[in-house]
Amino acid sequence: MDLTPSTGPARRGVLAAGAGLLTVPLLAACGGSGGDGGDGGDADAQDSRAAPPSSAAGTRLLSLADVPVGSGVVLEVQGASVVVVQPQEGTAKAFSGVCTHQGCVVQIGRTDITCPCHGSEFSFTDGSVVTGPAGRPLPPVPVTVVDGDVVLS
Ligand code: FES
Repeated sequence: MDLTPSTGPARRGVLAAGAGLLTVPLLAACGGSGGDGGDGGDADAQDSRAAPPSSAAGTRLLSLADVPVGSGVVLEVQGASVVVVQPQEGTAKAFSGVCTHQGCVVQIGRTDITCPCHGSEFSFTDGSVVTGPAGRPLPPVPVTVVDGDVVLS
C-alpha cells in the first residue's frame, strides 16, 4: 500500500503555505520610507535617501585616508546614505547606500557591501549585484579626490 501519490501534493501545499508565512514578516520588517507599494519589487528610485541633492556638489565627505583600501564606509550626507569605497589605493568611488531591493541602508561587509534586510551583496568595485535578491546595482554617486579628500562632484 503506497500512499505517496495522495499525500505528496498535500504536503507540498503545506510547505508552500509555510514559506509564504515566513516571507511576510521579513518583508514587513524591511520597512523603509521609500513607498515601494508593498509589491516586493525594487526600491523606489525617487527615495530621497538614495542620493544627496545635486546642490551638495562640492561637499567634502571625508579624507580618502579614512576609507580602507579594498573596502569602504557608509556615510549620511544631507539626509542621503552614501557608500564611499577605495577599490584601489588612491581611487575613490561612491554609490547610493540604499539597497535597490526594498530600500534598507546597506553596510560594509568583509568582502563586499551587504544589505542586512534580505542579504543582497554588492561589489566594492562598481556597486554591481553580487548576490540577490536585489536585481539592480547600487546607483553611482559622483565623487572626486581633491587634496586627499573625497568630494561630491
Ligand atoms: Fe532586501 Fe536589501 S532591502 S536585500
